[in-house]
Amino acid sequence: MPKRFIQKKDSEIRPVACSEYNANLQIEILNIDITNLIEPVLDIGCGKKGNLVKFLQKHGIRATGIDRFTISKSNLTNADWLEFDFGTEKWGTVISNLGFSNHFIHHNLREDGDYANYAKKYMDILKSLKSGGSFHYAPNLPFVEIYLDKKQYMVRTYDIGDFDYQACVITKL
Ligand SMILES: C[S@@+](CC[C@H](N)C(=O)[O-])C[C@H]1O[C@@H](n2cnc3c(N)ncnc32)[C@H](O)[C@@H]1O
Repeated sequence: MPKRFIQKKDSEIRPVACSEYNANLQIEILNIDITNLIEPVLDIGCGKKGNLVKFLQKHGIRATGIDRFTISKSNLTNADWLEFDFGTEKWGTVISNLGFSNHFIHHNLREDGDYANYAKKYMDILKSLKSGGSFHYAPNLPFVEIYLDKKQYMVRTYDIGDFDYQACVITKL
């Protein structure tokens, strides 16, 4: 498991932002090509409304989302990502915009953070990808990505405008 790379006092750590973004913006940030998405798609921390899930479904893509604040109906499920069973070699594409990785960073910085559980869940998410499938997320997690086995995973990162963090796409080889 990766070590925590920075220790900060809790008072120095910003709270995690909690807004929902439109589907087109998420697609652009996360380098998603909807004409070339491997199904099924899971959006982790999809937001209460599940904007991206609904957008993908409208385009005929099998997509589902989980969020702790959504109401379970059709393809949205009320669930905590730390308790969710992602399965094994189940998803063609996993997406998380300003969701799981943002909270992972927050917990990695907090003195009392649950970073070990986040690291374990991150590996569970990667195991849940089908061969050739990808996990698209932002912000990226450089302190974890450097430990991934290059024979098993291809890691690509992308700048996002002038932001000081990047988006990441991990593909299971
Ligand atoms: C910044 S919002 C982003 C929502 C969406 N991905 C978007 O880009 O519009 C982060 C989301 O993560 C969800 N979230 C936070 N902690 C969670 C947890 N432990 N399990 C499931 N969802 C969680 C929040 O409810 C919120 O909807």
